[in-house]
Amino acid sequence: MKKIIFSLLLTVGAISTANAVQGDAAAGKEKAAMCGACHGATGVTPNPLYPDLAGQKDQYLVKQLADFKSGARTDMMMAPMAANLSEQDMADLAAYFSSQKRASEQVAAPAESAATPATAAAVASKVEIVTSTPAKAIYAGDVKAGQEKSVMCASCHGTDGNSVVPMYPKLAGQSANYTAKQLADFKSGERKDPVMAGMVAALSEQDMNDLAAYFAVQTPTAGTGEGSAIGEKLYFGGDVAKGITACVACHGVKGKGMSQAAFPAVAGQNADYLKKQIASFRNGSRGNDNNSMMRNIAIKLSDNDIDELVKYMSSLK
Ligand code: HEC
Ligand code: HEC
Ligand code: HEC
Repeated sequence: MKKIIFSLLLTVGAISTANAVQGDAAAGKEKAAMCGACHGATGVTPNPLYPDLAGQKDQYLVKQLADFKSGARTDMMMAPMAANLSEQDMADLAAYFSSQKRASEQVAAPAESAATPATAAAVASKVEIVTSTPAKAIYAGDVKAGQEKSVMCASCHGTDGNSVVPMYPKLAGQSANYTAKQLADFKSGERKDPVMAGMVAALSEQDMNDLAAYFAVQTPTAGTGEGSAIGEKLYFGGDVAKGITACVACHGVKGKGMSQAAFPAVAGQNADYLKKQIASFRNGSRGNDNNSMMRNIAIKLSDNDIDELVKYMSSLK
């Protein structure tokens, strides 16, 4: 009798998974690069507001992701994450996270720091750079070497990455992962800018990592924007009626971004530069954001929304 029940169970199991897409944990690990910022690289997070995914049931994870995508389950942070996942992506991600040890069996990684703290910056000589799409490798960027290589950037971005020209972005304190990605994107043409294309043409991958490491540990100057109550409200709350995800979900409470996930810091950035970037995401001329994360949001912003958001972000210290 026991045997019969057992084989029955096996059959039921086989039927219920027969139609499902087979997940590949190794592929899922690569695709999980951008989930790590909130859920931890192995699915265990010290943040009390983000759920652990490690050791969770495979099919449950797939269903949640599908629900975030369809809107059956609503969450302002997860909606844009799930929006562009295919069934295969979901199956792979679920296979990866479900195969990880539960929190009780592994030590949680330290909380992702939003930006390199100034004290650590003073002593840091190497900055770990994770390629963001997907996290295939971790490179060490050499701060000292980066400083030497940054001489030719200084005329536009300032010697310490604090550009004073409104059209040129500040690079000081920016996520190293993000800066390294931008340099690579300018080089590949994924992000288009005639000036920067010329600057990066001769840079090697190591050069880019060194430069990114150098600028990441510089201290950004305070923003000079005038601030905006309307911008602040939109930044923190988004706009449910218009389907605008709150910027805080990815750019952080203080606008410092999420360095690990290569979500850029926007705090105190030059206003003219910010405005041009949002407009470029909106009209599609900038399209180097993974999964159209920024384009999907920018397309819903009005000119007035952009003006107020820029006033707010450029005022953040
Ligand atoms: C910006 C932070 C953030 C990022 C990045 C993020 N998530 Fe989430 N995730 C959340 C939050 C917050 C919740 C809880 C939502 C809620 O309260 O309903 C959540 C919930 C989930 C759940 C449901 C868990 C459960 O127990 O019900 C799954 C599955 C999930 N995330 C998977 C992912 C995957 C896969 C990625 C990467 C593609 C990802 N998340 C990226 C913040 C994030
Ligand atoms: C002649 C002026 C000039 C020089 C020199 C220059 N840049 Fe730029 N840089 C720009 C401009 C203009 C932009 C904005 C491009 C855009 O609008 O998309 C930019 C953008 C960037 C960005 C993107 C920043 C962000 O927040 O997305 C990075 C990173 C960057 N530059 C790094 C460098 C590095 C490293 C060097 C030296 C190797 C350098 N730049 C030299 C003008 C310059
Ligand atoms: C789901 C995550 C997410 C949300 C929500 C989000 N962003 Fe972004 N944003 C990104 C990512 C990722 C990039 C960088 C893309 C790239 O170049 O790799 C970015 C880039 C930007 C940039 C360009 C920064 C630079 O240095 O060039 C600006 C400005 C920006 N976002 C503003 C906003 C505003 C305003 C909102 C809210 C209305 C918002 N973002 C909401 C993920 C997000």
